[in-house]
Amino acid sequence: MLYLITGANRGIGLGFVGQLLARGDSVVATARRPDEADELQRLAERHPDRLEIVELDLGRQDTIDEVADLLGERPLDVLINNGATMQGAGPFEELNDSILFESFEVNTVGPLRVSRALLPNLERAEGAKIVNITSKMGSVADNTSGGSYAYRISKAALNMATRSMAIDLAPREIIAFVIHPGWVRTRMGGSNALIDTETSVSNMLRIIDGADEETSGTFQEWNGNQVPW
Ligand SMILES: NC(=O)c1ccc[n+]([C@@H]2O[C@H](COP(=O)([O-])OP(=O)(O)OC[C@H]3O[C@@H](n4cnc5c(N)ncnc54)[C@H](OP(=O)(O)O)[C@@H]3O)[C@@H](O)[C@H]2O)c1
Repeated sequence: MLYLITGANRGIGLGFVGQLLARGDSVVATARRPDEADELQRLAERHPDRLEIVELDLGRQDTIDEVADLLGERPLDVLINNGATMQGAGPFEELNDSILFESFEVNTVGPLRVSRALLPNLERAEGAKIVNITSKMGSVADNTSGGSYAYRISKAALNMATRSMAIDLAPREIIAFVIHPGWVRTRMGGSNALIDTETSVSNMLRIIDGADEETSGTFQEWNGNQVPW
């Protein structure tokens, strides 16, 4: 199976690449700066025939188009929209507009751009899956602590976009759903987070592997729970 993962140079994205290669899948791993993606380069030395590393910046449509060109007519079984930014937009009175817009571009528009560009490849695979990595912080129902405007609203918007994609792409037999990876020890999650990357990724892969049309349009959590929207 062929997987494409954004933000694959570190954290959860890199964890996906490692586990997928270990079990024999092929991966297109994308990063903003492939030349600096040392861990991906090391994996590519071990798996030259199953790992391609390509540039993709979620804020730059030209890089997304180049990835689509590179894939050509190859079927893509699973697209994992993982790359994202989490920046504090400040207290309510001092909200920083540029952080709000950048977060929306990277976390919401970016996954939509990638999904749109790679739709022909997904259509060529049988039972293709679009997996959008979201956060519980994007759950309206779960928001009891406020704040984090940029991150929360960009992930809530991604959730809504995914629900529409699930409906719109169903006739083409492509499923789409969001999944919360847990609070994971990465640069974004910090060192106090509850689980490591390996645990998060192995559990999410189990959910992705088992996902079918019933899963499409749902808000999954790494541990098998469903998250309220
Ligand atoms: N860790 C958690 O506890 C947690 C909890 C809930 C949800 N999540 C979600 O899980 C996913 C992975 O997060 P993580 O914890 O692995 O975070 P991370 O370690 O901070 O990694 C983020 C990844 O996204 C990439 N990225 C950022 N801006 C980008 C852009 N404009 N274009 C392309 N890639 C970009 C980064 O690339 P650079 O190295 O170039 O910056 C990096 O590869 C994200 O969607 C995040 O929102 C994480």
